[in-house]
Amino acid sequence: MKDILTAPFLIEMIRTTANMYAHGWDERNGGNISLMLSESEVSEYIDVNRVLRTIPAGFKAPSLEGKYFLVTGTGKYFKNVQYAPDVNLGLLRLADGGSNAQLLWGFADGGTFTSEFPAHMMSHAARLTVNPSNRVIMHCHPTNLLAMTYVHSLDEKAFTRTLWQMCTECIIVFPDGVNVLEWLLCGTNEIGEATAEKMKTSRLVVWAQHGLYGAGADLDEAFGLIETAEKAAEIYLKIAHLPLVNTITDEQMHLLEGRYGVKAREGYLA
Ligand code: 13P
Ligand code: ZN
Repeated sequence: MKDILTAPFLIEMIRTTANMYAHGWDERNGGNISLMLSESEVSEYIDVNRVLRTIPAGFKAPSLEGKYFLVTGTGKYFKNVQYAPDVNLGLLRLADGGSNAQLLWGFADGGTFTSEFPAHMMSHAARLTVNPSNRVIMHCHPTNLLAMTYVHSLDEKAFTRTLWQMCTECIIVFPDGVNVLEWLLCGTNEIGEATAEKMKTSRLVVWAQHGLYGAGADLDEAFGLIETAEKAAEIYLKIAHLPLVNTITDEQMHLLEGRYGVKAREGYLA
């Protein structure tokens, strides 16, 4: 058995959490990540038949039965993952119709998965129906996007169009736009179900006055998606109080669609 601390998925998770902390998106224990892994990847490093603990998920996710996830722990600080990955992270497998999590490695202090486990698992299930290559759900509290939810309409089309207009790259990186949930109680199955529903039509879901969810094929892709939207929100906050002289027109957005082979969300461009 190889040392799990040398596993590419673990190294990438450590780098990503440290980078997200450095970006100021994950104060204290803010944010959580789940990375789906295959049994063949995992079994190089751990005995998949040795279950350390069984933790009730609190919901059922039948389509995820037997799937493996590396997940951040509840109450754990992203800045500390690099120093104690086996305490701050857990590797688990969903069992019993997706109603139990079998811990195979990590959460060494007796801890457990993120309080946003329902939103993560339900979002994985939703994204897999849209795009089978999806492996990552990432939640964080990016400052500018969060600030934007206090001063901008939460209408999804309006919110998306504003972000698209802030940087030329936005429509290329997230042509499906962003979906928005009004404030809901976090850490519940209800917000999990609502997030998963929104994940069916966009890889970005804003939680008003809280933060953001991003989905992607790998950690880099989910990170880059969030980074791009957050950059757009930063520009918006820099200009929102100034008279607008120029913008990216819908005509120019159509040129971007043609050049980069993307299709903007139906009905979002004139
Ligand atoms: P956890 O520490 O349970 O992951 O919660 C952090 C968070 O961002 C809640 O939305
Ligand atoms: Zn949060």
